[in-house]
Parts: sequence; structure tokens; C-alpha cells
Amino acid sequence: MAEIARVGVVGAGQMGNGIAQVFASKGVHVVMLDVNEEALKKGMATIQKSLSKLVEKGKLEAPAMAVAISMLRTSSDYGLLKDRDLVIEAATENLELKRKIFSQIDEAAPEGAILATNTSSISITTLAAGTRRPNKFIGMHFMNPVPLMQLVEIIRGLDTDDETYKTIMDMATRLGKTPIACNDFPGFVSNRILLPMINEAVYALMEGVADAQSIDQIMKLGMNHPMGPLSLADLIGLDTCLAIMQVLHRDLGDSKYRPCPLLKKYVDAGHLGRKTGRGFYKYE
Ligand code: CAA
Repeated sequence: MAEIARVGVVGAGQMGNGIAQVFASKGVHVVMLDVNEEALKKGMATIQKSLSKLVEKGKLEAPAMAVAISMLRTSSDYGLLKDRDLVIEAATENLELKRKIFSQIDEAAPEGAILATNTSSISITTLAAGTRRPNKFIGMHFMNPVPLMQLVEIIRGLDTDDETYKTIMDMATRLGKTPIACNDFPGFVSNRILLPMINEAVYALMEGVADAQSIDQIMKLGMNHPMGPLSLADLIGLDTCLAIMQVLHRDLGDSKYRPCPLLKKYVDAGHLGRKTGRGFYKYE
């Protein structure tokens, strides 16, 4: 198994900064990349806030927070990936964008480095084929909010080799997470099942079956879900939800995955959930 001591995370958004945080918290050197200073500042502020919350709740010692922070660097220079053992991409859910990012990562990272994607639905095999190392390419799908959620879904592409798979399973365990492997199909297991439920909740809202609060309360209290589906959609981001439904619809070719027109309308309006202050609910 390869040793992972230095990691690169490309993307400082809600998934990227959470991933950077969990690695840094385990003493792994992390460089977090994004296109501009503002995105990096926002990502670091989220990490600070999350770590402080964990300290406040007694889930992390204060000195461990200082160590985690000291493990983190930010930059917009892909050149800093030259000594990384693992680089994880956590950009927006868009195939063309991810392809572009991976060609830059592939160029910058050393030959032996493992490349991973945090994609929620896009084919691992397709992304891997765009690099010079499809055998060292794997899906490492974290759940939101990354510091709190136990699961990492691990997805092997067609050519992922055993050593890469074992190294990543071991690394996820070292992060204190539970890695579970599945095969490379659209949406994998998590979003193949979660997103049609969320999409159906949006149909129920659109058709006036109930208002948003009632739909969420019914699913929370009736099914013991920690959050209702509309509130969860706001947490994930409605643009991400729509992108995943579009992948399921296109790649599985079944009309049962068609994205709800109301979901599309919210995205068109720029109401993307918590990150824009408005989705199915309004946020401060
Ligand atoms: N870091 C540290 N602490 C955090 C945090 C973070 N990132 N996010 C929330 N917390 C804290 C809160 O501040 C809160 O602290 P207080 O109790 O002191 O207020 C505490 O955690 C608990 O949070 P909440 O009070 O909001 O309530 P909760 O008990 O409902 O827990 C939750 C929050 C863990 C998010 C829970 O609601 C939950 O599990 N929700 C479902 C999340 C889920 O399904 N995630 C998967 C999304 S799908 C995905 O990610 C895959 C994809 O590709 C789309």
C-alpha cells in the first residue's frame, strides 16, 4: 500500500473545505486549491468555524485544532501538487469542468500519485480515461457535512488497480470514516437512491400535495430521517441536485429519473439553497 502523507484538494467549496479539514485533522499535510483568493478565504473560514464548533462540543481538543490549521495551506497554483501522494478533486458537478481540472492535476502531480474525485454521479471510468493513469484513479465520495458524516463511498473505475483501491480504503478508515465500496454506475448507490427521493419531494411540492414544511416534517417524523428531503436539498445545493438528476436521466435513459421542472426553475432563478440564502427555505 502506498503511504499518504501529503494531499491536494482541488476546490474550496463546501465539499472541498470539509475534505481538507478531515485530512488536516488527522495530521496529513494539505494544500487546498481554488481559482481565487476569495474562494480560498471563504473555505478556510468555514474550516475555522467547523473546528471551533467541534472543540466547543468536546469532540476535538483545542491543541488538535491548532495542529489541523497548521497542516493546511491554500493556493491557486497547481504547481504545488508536485509532491502530493493523493489529489482529490471536489469541484462543481460538471463533466467538462472536471475533465479540465484533471488534465491540470495529471500534469502537475507526480507519476505515482493517486487521483481521486468526489463526484456525486459522474462516471469514474470516463474521468479516469482522460488522465495518463486510469489505474491510479478512483472515486472517493464524501457526504455533506463532511466533518460529521460517517460514510465515504469508494468507487472503482474499470481500470482502478488493487493497490489504489486498498490504499484509499485504508486512508478513509484512518480519517475515522467508514468506507464502503460500490461499482461505477450513474449516481453510484448513494445518489441513485437519495436523489430520486428528493426529486419526488419536489414533485409533491409542485403538485400541491403539501407545503414544504409539511413534506419535510412527514419524512422526518414518519421515517426518522434527520432532515426532510427539501431541507436536505437546500443543504446539498439545488444546482448539484439538478446536475445529479440530469446524469441519472441521461445515463440510465429511464424517464423515471426526469428532473422535476420546479427544481429546474429554482436553479434558473439562482435560488440554490443555503449557499445563496434561498432555496425551498430562506436562510439568514
Ligand atoms: N462542522 C462541525 N459542526 C457542525 C457542522 C460542521 N460542518 N455542521 C453542523 N454542525 C453542528 C451544528 O452546528 C450543531 O451544533 P449545536 O448542536 O451546537 O447547535 C450540531 O452539529 C448538530 O447540528 P444540528 O443542530 O443542525 O442538527 P442535527 O442533529 O440535525 O445534525 C446533521 C446536523 C448532521 C447535518 C443532520 O441533520 C444530518 O445528518 N442530516 C442529513 C445529512 C445528509 O443526509 N447528508 C448527506 C447529503 S448527500 C451527500 O452529501 C452526497 C451527495 O453527493 C449529494
